[in-house]
Amino acid sequence: MTQAIIIDTDPGQDDALAILLALAAPKVLDVRAIVAVAGNVPLPLTQLNARRLVDLSGRRDVPVYAGCAAPMERPLITAENVHGHTGVDGYDWPDTQTPLQDQGGVDFLIEALLAAGEREITLCTLGPLTNIAMALLKEPRCARGINEIVMMGGGCFEGGNTTPAAEFNILVDPHAADIVFKSSLSLTLIPLDLTHKALATPARIDRIAALGNETGKACAGMLRYFNRHDVEKYGSEGAPLHDPCVIAYLMQPDMFGGKTVNVEIETASPLTMGMTVMDWWRVTDRAPNCTVMNTIDADGYFDLLSDHLARLP
Ligand code: RIB
Ligand code: CA
Repeated sequence: MTQAIIIDTDPGQDDALAILLALAAPKVLDVRAIVAVAGNVPLPLTQLNARRLVDLSGRRDVPVYAGCAAPMERPLITAENVHGHTGVDGYDWPDTQTPLQDQGGVDFLIEALLAAGEREITLCTLGPLTNIAMALLKEPRCARGINEIVMMGGGCFEGGNTTPAAEFNILVDPHAADIVFKSSLSLTLIPLDLTHKALATPARIDRIAALGNETGKACAGMLRYFNRHDVEKYGSEGAPLHDPCVIAYLMQPDMFGGKTVNVEIETASPLTMGMTVMDWWRVTDRAPNCTVMNTIDADGYFDLLSDHLARLP
């Protein structure tokens, strides 16, 4: 039984490996579409990168849409310092073949979710939540088609990676995140507390490089580029490989652990804007609204990733 998913993303090298992992598992994940959002780099580049990845995977059956070019209220912040000016630096990308769909990404989300059966589609969000929030605002009825939203974002005891309090995906659009976390939808969050336990070490990258296919060459090049910023920042052996954790969770949830707690988003304080305030020890009476994952079988994760990247061209 395949799971129907829509990937909402701001590629980004880690987004790239998440998208490739999903596209390499057609018997497990029915990827209905990829919707790009502004985040790591501006929307013209995130949509181009999503199309590049569809080309690389050979899965030209998967349509790519462009969603929102800016957050709901705040000015866009991007992360070229981490991802490079293309957003997927580290590989020499050929000319793109996959076309961009004409329909706007938010309108596509609404149309697809209204046409879906009840709780038919899982949304996998790898970037800021702007597209999702705008769809829910524009057409609240589309919530009926959403089974679950599995998100990479936020931090608990790990704090933030863009400010001391805030992780990038949430900080870019905290107002969108606030709408999603107050939506009463089934939510699963993959925060920095988990992704910082899944490091793209040189040995793990070398294994991907040795796959012998173009996908392995591209992913190893992207990861070696992606590593340079975080290895220097954290003094770690490798960068946290954030976004593929979302896809791996859907494919092998038993590799993950966590608990359901209350998560709320700071949308006012200049000091802690974009903070995911998690009541981990249930010291308030705020209702639990999100399952937060904080443990992963890191070796199993990279086994899953390497095994599936090997299946692509
Ligand atoms: O903070 C890490 C997240 O922000 C990842 O999704 C990365 O791709 C960026 O979008
Ligand atoms: Ca991302």
